[in-house]
Amino acid sequence: MQKLSTRHLLGIKDLTPDDIELIMATATEFKEVINRPIKKVPSLRDVTIANVFFENSTRTRLSFELAEKRLSADTLSFSAAGSSVKKGETLLDTVNNILAMKVDMIVMRHASPGAPHFLSKHINANIVNAGDGTHEHPTQALLDSFSMRERLGTDLVGKKVAIIGDILHSRVALSNIFALKKQGAEVMLCGPSTLIPRYITELGVKVSHNVREALAWCDVANVLRIQLERQHIKYFPSLREYSLYFGINKRMLDELDKEIVLMHPGPINRGVELSSDAADSHHSIILDQVENGVATRMAVLYLLAAQN
Ligand code: CP
Repeated sequence: MQKLSTRHLLGIKDLTPDDIELIMATATEFKEVINRPIKKVPSLRDVTIANVFFENSTRTRLSFELAEKRLSADTLSFSAAGSSVKKGETLLDTVNNILAMKVDMIVMRHASPGAPHFLSKHINANIVNAGDGTHEHPTQALLDSFSMRERLGTDLVGKKVAIIGDILHSRVALSNIFALKKQGAEVMLCGPSTLIPRYITELGVKVSHNVREALAWCDVANVLRIQLERQHIKYFPSLREYSLYFGINKRMLDELDKEIVLMHPGPINRGVELSSDAADSHHSIILDQVENGVATRMAVLYLLAAQN
């Protein structure tokens, strides 16, 4: 059996192009499984996985929980809200207490960049980063790549992907940049100059501050949310002005002289980065991304469990 080069999924930065191909191929097999009448396989019957979420989540958490159930793993879920974290327990103590219950794998979301990397130095269980602050969200980038490949019907070599929105605060942007570059795609970032990190071009990406130029250039537009909860100063005058200059509506997509694939990792701020008529249009694969998240996360969990 082909194996990953790593026993944790901390970020796309650490994956090889072969790792990504293996995850894509395995996810394709699991997508076939979850479309059968009996959607379950016994692959992780002896594995116990804890979903440890220190930050809010809808899609990622439910998607991991479903992926684990489809693989027949035993699971437990932890939210910081309502836990003894509120009484001052450290991250490491919390996780070690969970591991004392004979848990094999930790899926963790945390507000601090590097939290899963820190854990990986102190515990033996496999760790999956489900989003660490503004740093990486590797399974989101993997499911995004899987969804692009599925819609385009090809690999991503030479494909043009524009990532549009709040790049500065986005873990999805950084993981997508790493994933896309490792698969041979071209990447353009688009947003107000205040929301594009200054040295980002060192990652080999183009930058535009004109959303129409980005849409005209790309095969795929991956639109990101304005993360007001992480913005402690004003990066643009108002949401109304942001929407006027960087918001995407269906007319803008229909007027392009080509097919375009529209993506968004969710949650969407409807009427800010995307109008409802664009988000719900035939260009959009936003709900396909959610569906593909389960198969992609099944692939990641299955391949990591095989490392033990
Ligand atoms: N895309 C994503 O990470 O969504 P949630 O924050 O709802 O998990």
